[in-house]
Amino acid sequence: MKRMLVLGGTGQVGYELQRSLSTLGEVLAPTQNDISLMLPANELEGKLTALRPDIVINAAAYTAVDQAETEREKAHQINAVAPGLLASYCEKQQIPLIHFSTDYVFDGTKNQPWKETDTPNPINVYGETKLAGENVIRATRASHLILRTSWVYGARGKNFFNTMKRLATEKSSLSIVNDQLGAPTWSRHLGDAVAQLIAMAGKQGPGFWQTHSGTYHLTNAGETSWYDFAQAIFDEMQSAGHPAPEVEPISSDDYPVPAPRPAYSVLDCGLLEERFAISLPDWRQTLSYVMQDAKV
Ligand SMILES: NC(=O)c1ccc[n+]([C@@H]2O[C@H](COP(=O)([O-])OP(=O)(O)OC[C@H]3O[C@@H](n4cnc5c(N)ncnc54)[C@H](OP(=O)(O)O)[C@@H]3O)[C@@H](O)[C@H]2O)c1
Repeated sequence: MKRMLVLGGTGQVGYELQRSLSTLGEVLAPTQNDISLMLPANELEGKLTALRPDIVINAAAYTAVDQAETEREKAHQINAVAPGLLASYCEKQQIPLIHFSTDYVFDGTKNQPWKETDTPNPINVYGETKLAGENVIRATRASHLILRTSWVYGARGKNFFNTMKRLATEKSSLSIVNDQLGAPTWSRHLGDAVAQLIAMAGKQGPGFWQTHSGTYHLTNAGETSWYDFAQAIFDEMQSAGHPAPEVEPISSDDYPVPAPRPAYSVLDCGLLEERFAISLPDWRQTLSYVMQDAKV
């Protein structure tokens, strides 16, 4: 792949994409200042045309889940309108689009991992706008991979892991919700998986994108609650000789936030493994890699 355009390169996933894709060709990573997903269609198209990418990878999104409840228009523009414009551009140029979506498209009412064939039913504005973004992409004839992931974290960026690391230095006790289950996913594993997909496409030829166009779930394996995830982070910190707070499990009702979260949002990643032999390791094992990367 010659020229790979990564949107959202300053974000958690976008940063790792740049790093992982750099062995495969030229990575173009304009900032939001260079290309905003708030731009009108013709201006956005003009900017994309000037870059002449061979593939577009969209990791840019409005990700402030609670804020989205009061900034619906902005979240909709970035998460739903812009992905449609990107897909139309890719359709016209006959180049593939890789786009990230979320476990929050589901309502969380199942008690076993969600499959790609399950019906989405978002329960917050962020999830609604992300689902709308998926749907506008599917409505074009662009070859696309929509990769739904969950609970993204890493040494870099604004995420639960970094919040817990900071709170460990500030607090002696914490209350964390234990009735939301999901799969924490390392941003670097997402970058690596996308690099593997693009390398595979390179070997198989252009038919790859048409054949495999569709939606796939991509997370680290296993499942946990925010409470157990926090506890695991603090266990690792203590083993490394750092102080760690006591953690008390609480229910979501005791921690009111503007946007409701799905109770169970674990994704079944079997399809990706079956089609591409790509599977990400268990979240617990992965946490120890992230601790090392974060130099804890
Ligand atoms: N974080 C999670 O837990 C999670 C879970 C499931 C799915 N996802 C999905 O995974 C993808 C990547 O998420 P992430 O965690 O890497 O997000 P992130 O760290 O919040 O990064 C978001 C990126 O989007 C860019 N962006 C925001 N508004 C923009 C605009 N108007 N125009 C252009 N760029 C804009 C940001 O640029 P600035 O740095 O300039 O603001 C940043 O580079 C998203 O599609 C997200 O929905 C994330």
